[in-house]
Amino acid sequence: MIAFDAKTNLFHLRGASYSYVMFVNEWGYLQCLHYGGRVGGDNLTYLKQIDFKSFSPTPPDILIEGVSLDLIPSEYASFGQSDFRAPSAVIEQADGARMSRFRYCSHEIEEGAPDWGALPHARAEKGGAQTLSVRLKDAVSGMEIVLHYTVFEHSDVLVRNAEFYNGTNGKLYLNKAFSFCFDLPADDYSLLRLAGRHQLERMPECTPLAHGTIRLSSERGASSHQMNPFMGLLKKDCTEHGGECYGAALCYSGSFALTAEVSQSDTVRVQGGICEEGFRWSLSAGERFVTPQAFLAYSDRGLGGMSRAYADFYRERVISPAFAYKRRPIVVNNWEATYFDFDVEKLNAIVDEGAKIGIDTFVLDDGWFGIRNDPTSGLGDWSVNEEKLKGGLNAVISHCKEKGMQFGLWFEPEMISKNSELFRSHPDWAVGKVSAGYCESRHQLVLDFSRPEIVEAIYKQVSDILSAYDISYVKWDMNRHITEQFSAALPADRQGEFTHRFIMGVYTLADRLTRAFPNVLFEGCSGGGGRFDAGMLYYFPQIWTSDNTDGYDRVKIQYGTSIAYPLSAMSCHVSVCPNHQTKRTVSLKTRGDVASLGATGYELDLSKLRAEEKEEMRLQIKAYRRVSRLILEGDLYRLSDPFHSNYFCVQIVAKDRSEAYVVGEEILTNSDDNLRRIRLQGLDGAADYTVEELGITLKGDTLMRAGCILPHLSDFGTWVWHIRKV
Ligand code: GLA
Repeated sequence: MIAFDAKTNLFHLRGASYSYVMFVNEWGYLQCLHYGGRVGGDNLTYLKQIDFKSFSPTPPDILIEGVSLDLIPSEYASFGQSDFRAPSAVIEQADGARMSRFRYCSHEIEEGAPDWGALPHARAEKGGAQTLSVRLKDAVSGMEIVLHYTVFEHSDVLVRNAEFYNGTNGKLYLNKAFSFCFDLPADDYSLLRLAGRHQLERMPECTPLAHGTIRLSSERGASSHQMNPFMGLLKKDCTEHGGECYGAALCYSGSFALTAEVSQSDTVRVQGGICEEGFRWSLSAGERFVTPQAFLAYSDRGLGGMSRAYADFYRERVISPAFAYKRRPIVVNNWEATYFDFDVEKLNAIVDEGAKIGIDTFVLDDGWFGIRNDPTSGLGDWSVNEEKLKGGLNAVISHCKEKGMQFGLWFEPEMISKNSELFRSHPDWAVGKVSAGYCESRHQLVLDFSRPEIVEAIYKQVSDILSAYDISYVKWDMNRHITEQFSAALPADRQGEFTHRFIMGVYTLADRLTRAFPNVLFEGCSGGGGRFDAGMLYYFPQIWTSDNTDGYDRVKIQYGTSIAYPLSAMSCHVSVCPNHQTKRTVSLKTRGDVASLGATGYELDLSKLRAEEKEEMRLQIKAYRRVSRLILEGDLYRLSDPFHSNYFCVQIVAKDRSEAYVVGEEILTNSDDNLRRIRLQGLDGAADYTVEELGITLKGDTLMRAGCILPHLSDFGTWVWHIRKV
């Protein structure tokens, strides 16, 4: 998978369908020659030409006119030494000098993949991985930088990050430390991002690249609802089903930046990592700093091919192997059913009805702890409120057991209410500066997780609860972003380390809890999908996709999310109508069909429903169990885009192509639906398939080339097709 040719100093990294080729040029710089479709073993150094006479200077170690770092495709760009595009790292020396030149020193090729401890990373357990580590040295400051590249067998995802080592005798500062950089040759590209807001996360937006920089970022201390840490670069011919595109996703849940910069020569520099705004990391002699991993994807099968490459990669290499392919429990959650207003009777009534319709797990959401009957108090006091829950948690847990159900519990470990025992005893544990006052969001403050003693205290509280009760599922929430990025415990020259130290505290807690309770399924959440990223998926096999459970908005949210993440990562619930977020009413069938495209569940007061509704849900759950393996393991094909057409439609195909499941939604009804067709994808062309709902048996080729006629439905009506090889 990784080859090095000592004669040409050329590295060739080969994945399932990509080649990544770079070499050490005659001046000692690591230069990219090709990242794209697989090529053979040719010597690609013929692509190195750089004799353009530009207005770009020459660095002191070259001094040949026309040869400038500004024109060389870089694998990791330096600052202030003739490359005027954005640098990948900015290193500051004791005297304030910030220029640097990163030159090749040595490299190693090893089997396996690096293990970065609590910092989420691609897993090597399954074998089939090789890692190239190229050691560079800054000719100016002396800082060493190791660029790691891991190639996985049968995968189109390449993993990269950078590791810094201060081998000098003095202190050095990192003012920027991105994870990766590559420069693509001039071409016509569009940039795809997944932007949004609370209750409308990951809306795909595609715009052409032009000279200058597009920067996707979050400065919120969390990856955010507003911008997902993913960037797509699509060549002009790229469509959903064909053409070339690239993806860059950060395995990181904190403040990040991803940039695409079109240079004077129309080349495109793509890079990203920890958000450089406000970042400053101090490295004393002998210290290391490891940047988060970036997952780079290449596809010559359109955007759909890239999504499938990411989905396979997350399931095989990121999500915990104990859960990646394990059937997820079908839950009922009490949040939208009761909000804070519940007692044991109300909860047990939901459990009773849940058991009757086939639900596996009851999840008790916010409000069971401390003194918390509204959002103003209690966060940080993770002990059961026995005044509210007479008989304690066991009154509900034992009832679940009697009914054959499991029990799940909500936590918000990173938060503290001013009105809490924890705040009264440790007012200095909140992020920020007491004298400056605090911004409040949902009446809460953030705990300073950059401090190990605070992480330890929360570990103790949460693990005490998980040890004391029979809990199989935890929903880990995070309901506000960080404003004052200041820690009372850090010295002045380390305040720029705060946000990264904070997220490392979160990872450390997640690491300890998931190790201590290996059978508990942790679901991530942040006001819905405010922290839906690869870093979270490493610890939490599924994430609450959005607080918006409306059957129309959800198809857009889930469609957008599916561009960069597997369906199995998305937690999707049926809630009541009119919908609490949008006030829209759609049928129970629509809500169930849309929620079947992920880890499904219910979030309403089952005890208040009519018998027919409960019967419909019982049948939905039965139908879901039939497709749940496909949802966990299958290949996703997006057949119709709800942003540019009147129809949402996706198809999931079994890896062996023996069956498929299609879910579609008609947004607004059309009198001429029956004149419209949907063409299927991914089937075995020569095999016969039955489409159960249409009562037809046809060749895969026919279904893929001639298609099926759409049903005529009312507004927001959905259809499903179960397709099986005969
Ligand atoms: C967030 C979550 C909801 C719910 C509430 C509880 O908004 O996204 O699902 O858990 O918090 O406060």
